[in-house]
Amino acid sequence: MTQDELKRAVAATAFEYVETLLEDDTIIGVGTGSTANFFIAELGKIKHRIAGTVASSDESARRLKELGIPVYDLNSAGAIAVYVDGADETNKHLQLIKGGGAALTREKIIAAVAEEFVCIADESKMVGVLGKFPLPIEVIPMARSHVARQLVLLGGDPVYREGCVTDNGNHIVDIYNLEILDPRDLEQKINQITGVVSNGLFAVRAADRLILGTDSGVKTYLP
Ligand code: A5P
Repeated sequence: MTQDELKRAVAATAFEYVETLLEDDTIIGVGTGSTANFFIAELGKIKHRIAGTVASSDESARRLKELGIPVYDLNSAGAIAVYVDGADETNKHLQLIKGGGAALTREKIIAAVAEEFVCIADESKMVGVLGKFPLPIEVIPMARSHVARQLVLLGGDPVYREGCVTDNGNHIVDIYNLEILDPRDLEQKINQITGVVSNGLFAVRAADRLILGTDSGVKTYLP
């Protein structure tokens, strides 16, 4: 199967799962990226049964609205029953690296609010140790150099993502060459650096369910 076929397959499985949770007032959290886009397409099939969504990026909100699916501001949405999103890396504990699409902060906020966080990914995203994928950090623009110097002290090689402005008006620094043996600890350390808005480690709030597309079929993992 191609990577896109695997992404489509996990999105379809996530959709079947989300359907079992649907009640009249269920609000669904929707992520960002190519795998999440397949999930958005699935949601289009039941748009009349969805009370609404919250989206982790302007781009996903645009896609949802295009399909006629209501998109709410998180502040007026109340409870989020389930949040479905992709990842750049996952380990077997369902700790993730996210933010390749620069939407990490809103993704982290929705994940924090959601009762359940379902990660959908193809098997290329499963790793033994997180860190081969450069870890994205969203920074306040004026703090970029300061944050980068602090990240060097943590053992990484920070690189400014040229030309990238997040939906929140901030910049992204990607940290290369990390071997993240304790994701929760590193996530908290990076959050302590002044000028960091958020980082792409989802370990303190890891996924609750991983739907992984493999050549031998779609597999579901729980932590
Ligand atoms: C967006 O900021 C990311 O966290 C995405 O969830 C992640 O990059 C996965 O994207 P793909 O589904 O396109 O691989």
